[in-house]
Amino acid sequence: MDTIRVLVSGAAGKMGQELVRAIHWEEDLKLVGACDVSQVGVEVGQMCGIDLSGVVMERFLSRTLDESLPQVVCDFTHADALRGNLPVYLEHQVSMVIGTTGLRTEELKDLEKKCLANNIGCLVAPNFAIGAVLMMQFAKTAAKYLERAEIIEFHHPQKKDAPSGTAIKTAEGIMEMNREMNRGVGEDKTVELVPGARGGRIGSVNIHSVRLSGFVAHQEVIFGGEGQTLTIRHDSLSRVSFMPGIIMAIRDLASHKGFYYGLEKILDL
Ligand SMILES: NC(=O)c1ccc[n+]([C@@H]2O[C@H](COP(=O)([O-])OP(=O)(O)OC[C@H]3O[C@@H](n4cnc5c(N)ncnc54)[C@H](O)[C@@H]3O)[C@@H](O)[C@H]2O)c1
Repeated sequence: MDTIRVLVSGAAGKMGQELVRAIHWEEDLKLVGACDVSQVGVEVGQMCGIDLSGVVMERFLSRTLDESLPQVVCDFTHADALRGNLPVYLEHQVSMVIGTTGLRTEELKDLEKKCLANNIGCLVAPNFAIGAVLMMQFAKTAAKYLERAEIIEFHHPQKKDAPSGTAIKTAEGIMEMNREMNRGVGEDKTVELVPGARGGRIGSVNIHSVRLSGFVAHQEVIFGGEGQTLTIRHDSLSRVSFMPGIIMAIRDLASHKGFYYGLEKILDL
């Protein structure tokens, strides 16, 4: 069996540590490098409580890429860090699995252009939980038949961006299926007595972001129709929920080039 060499950026973070453990348990994957601005110099195996030796947390991405020669890098940092990391990944022509959220649409378009021009593999997914991908898919189907929709997403308070990448992608999917969503039955004329009370908007879909301790990552897509509502809800109860999707993406990217936005691009839905 060929082994796929993987580097994790943001390896000291909540997702990074979970991913280091997930990679360790897969026979065909090998963690060859780990980068972070935190925990530099620490044995990554010890940090994550696994029997892995020889991988030390590094600070400098370019040098670590040169020395560890990964086939695939996984980035779970923050949007600003990712903006700094992307030119380094592109320069090293390494395949990328990007889970970091917060890049803007025009930045994603630019990344796609660069990956395609240089024949580099890249998968960007705002949500690697397979249940969440199905929620987005079911929401697209419902959007064809129901005239109103709003999204409520719930995350832990350390989350840096709002709305979540998943909420944005869900709203884009709804708008793609139904340009008239929330408009066909007349514009929302509610007067906001408190600014922002109706949430933010992608297209004509309102998104409400809740940030509270106790939550991991959750979302409800609520559709309204004549005398009925339909609620599609997904809950990531722990970060383990993202791991099968990320592992799938690593395996896919090890053998395919091209740019993919969304885990569904490599699933047989
Ligand atoms: N796509 C998905 O399925 C999914 C799921 C959960 C979280 N996320 C996203 O993943 C990212 C990380 O989430 P988290 O909860 O692990 O956050 P976190 O804050 O726990 O971890 C981020 C890590 O990145 C490190 N970091 C910051 N700047 C860096 C740099 N320049 N170079 C290297 N490392 C750097 C931090 O020190 C930290 O250890 C966020 O953008 C989050 O929204 C995506």
